[in-house]
Amino acid sequence: MNILVTGGTGFIGSHTCVELLNNNYNVIIIDNLSNSSIEVLEKIEKITSKKPKFYKIDLCDKEKVKEIFNENKIDAVIHFAGYKAVGESVSNPLKYYRNNLDSTLTLLEVMKEVNCHNLIFSSSATVYGTPKELPIKEDFPLSTTNPYGTTKLMIERILKDISISDKEISIIILRYFNPIGSHKSGLLGENPSGIPNNLMPYIVRVATKELPFLNVFGNDYDTHDGTGVRDYIHVVDLAKGHIKALEKSINFKGIEYYNLGTGTGYSVLDLVKTFEKVNNVKIPYKIVNRRPGDIAACFADPTKAYKELGFKAEYGIEDMCKDSYNYILKNKSN
Ligand SMILES: NC(=O)c1ccc[n+]([C@@H]2O[C@H](COP(=O)([O-])OP(=O)(O)OC[C@H]3O[C@@H](n4cnc5c(N)ncnc54)[C@H](O)[C@@H]3O)[C@@H](O)[C@H]2O)c1
Repeated sequence: MNILVTGGTGFIGSHTCVELLNNNYNVIIIDNLSNSSIEVLEKIEKITSKKPKFYKIDLCDKEKVKEIFNENKIDAVIHFAGYKAVGESVSNPLKYYRNNLDSTLTLLEVMKEVNCHNLIFSSSATVYGTPKELPIKEDFPLSTTNPYGTTKLMIERILKDISISDKEISIIILRYFNPIGSHKSGLLGENPSGIPNNLMPYIVRVATKELPFLNVFGNDYDTHDGTGVRDYIHVVDLAKGHIKALEKSINFKGIEYYNLGTGTGYSVLDLVKTFEKVNNVKIPYKIVNRRPGDIAACFADPTKAYKELGFKAEYGIEDMCKDSYNYILKNKSN
């Protein structure tokens, strides 16, 4: 089967390409390299001994996207491409609405024109806004607190409307919790440019002494140690979740939603302590004020993905901490 992976050189996309190739799917990547590099392709090939087909194009360019669908018989699309920095989306919302919506609409129009019916979409736990209860189930009310999240929710609504109008379509929406970690080889991983927004990339920079200490935003939340709790999931587990979703999508029509998380919440200090222990480093930190918009705790009920997709995350928090650091160490010394 030929699988088009948009955003396939990015953090989650590259790990998913590895799993797809290891499972004997043919992989065709579209990425404009706005947040990834071309070297990722060699690394995917090094790990899998297989070469994905690559097109450096912008997904908003309809003519080019259509050419790719005409050149390759695409059986299913996994759509990762988009911008993802919450803070930047608040300061530059138009950039997020333009790119995330336009790229998705372009892709959907072309898929309709060429009769490609299978789509897996990267959504996010951010669409649950501030959940009233935990753990979070797929049928909880949806709302958002920033433009990035709103793009995800808008796309979910667009996809719902399409599923009503088109009885042939198969859409699986995956709502990711907090992906961290990296491929065991240390070849693929996450290394955002600038000061990282997310906790693990920040901890890693403190570990390598590029940043002096970690700011812990609030220790007075209603959690076991007062710091914010999240559901961290190893990116390799997350990538494997896409294979399960793809297998389901082949004999499925309509739209379905799945949480991809572990179901276990860890606090900021749990993560810091585990990182220190498994990597034998010190992470100095300071407790500072809560960050506006942050919630106390967020973790998934992963039961639906387990029952209907057969998906269960296998890696624990220690692997996530080890692998995140391993990637940075390997890529610093290269
Ligand atoms: N990483 C997370 O914490 C997280 C959590 C929930 C959801 N998601 C979603 O998962 C998807 C993948 O996330 P990621 O962490 O791998 O991000 P990433 O930035 O590493 O990967 C996204 C890729 O899309 C490409 N891209 C962006 N706009 C494009 C366009 N118009 N045309 C072609 N390529 C384009 C980028 O160059 C990049 O390689 C995103 O949609 C993101 O919103 C990520």
